[in-house]
Amino acid sequence: MQTLPSFVHHIPTQCLSELLQRMPKAELHMHIEGSLEPELIFAMAQRNKVALPYRSVQALRDAYVFDNLQSFLDIYHAGTLVLKTEQDFYDMACAYLARAQADNVLHAELFFDTQTHTGHGLSAEVVIKGLHRACTDAPDRFGMTASLILCFLRHLSEAEAFECLEQALPLRDSILGIGLASSEVGHPPEKFARVFARARALGFRLVAHAGEEGPPAYIWSALDVLKVERVDHGVQAIHDAALMQRLALDRIPLTVCPLSNLKLCVYPSLAQHSLHRMLEAGIVATVNSDDPAYFGGYLNENFSQTFAALPLSAVHAYQLARNSFEASFISAPERSAHVARLDALFESFA
Ligand code: HPA
Ligand code: ZN
Repeated sequence: MQTLPSFVHHIPTQCLSELLQRMPKAELHMHIEGSLEPELIFAMAQRNKVALPYRSVQALRDAYVFDNLQSFLDIYHAGTLVLKTEQDFYDMACAYLARAQADNVLHAELFFDTQTHTGHGLSAEVVIKGLHRACTDAPDRFGMTASLILCFLRHLSEAEAFECLEQALPLRDSILGIGLASSEVGHPPEKFARVFARARALGFRLVAHAGEEGPPAYIWSALDVLKVERVDHGVQAIHDAALMQRLALDRIPLTVCPLSNLKLCVYPSLAQHSLHRMLEAGIVATVNSDDPAYFGGYLNENFSQTFAALPLSAVHAYQLARNSFEASFISAPERSAHVARLDALFESFA
């Protein structure tokens, strides 16, 4: 376990909710397509002349009731049908970045996938260029930094993932890392061993969703076969003591998404969520929003609801914010600058 600055142990409890809102943080697990709010889906449908199977924004929002990952992925996929132009991808990313800035996010690593959109007849270039322009504009427009992680869709084949990687290579410098998303159970990491090895040889940072609904074995193989640096979700590790030890000892970060886990019925309530147990076990856990337009909240909402449900203190809040910078792929000087801002805020409350 890390030793924390002593002032974090002297924060009055009544300051906790204000601290959760104001503390600087990084967001490392959010799918940009999952930030498309119903209002934006309707606006883009109108400007792109796409017919929607919902009569109103409210009717669409009312459909956001899920009983597992797949039931969410189906409706999430339908929402992406309104995205047609580079400007649409730019506007979608800027809408998220504005929300992230309001939550005091200093840095975000955005997941996106091209396979969804190339499957609808768009080019990978339209997707990547629009999103990358938003990341480039983020410091001036939103006072934060942002970078991109391209996720392969694991329900598709290995050959399709290779094709996806090849299509992205002309814009290699716009992409920081490679990830793995979509339907987990039945699509183990091993299916993508060779394409991850290729991505690694090309110098991409590597992450993968594992242990959201899938077993701890998928987390082991994300680490040992795909050689990822971070695990997205990873909450099923709580059922495997040896894995918990490995994650803690090797300081492998987990990008945990509490409201996502609640909405997709991974946990029956936030009070039963493993986040507190993970932190107590010394795991480098972080809090993230996953698909904020669908799961009922952006990053600070995830923090406030999770802290309301679990025995989490200001020390945990500090640890989670600090973990978010430790787990991010920013440079060492950026990390030090962000941690200094975090320390200054906590010290001012002590
Ligand atoms: N899990 C897997 N794939 C996803 C998710 C998720 O939570 N969100 C968007 N794609
Ligand atoms: Zn996710």
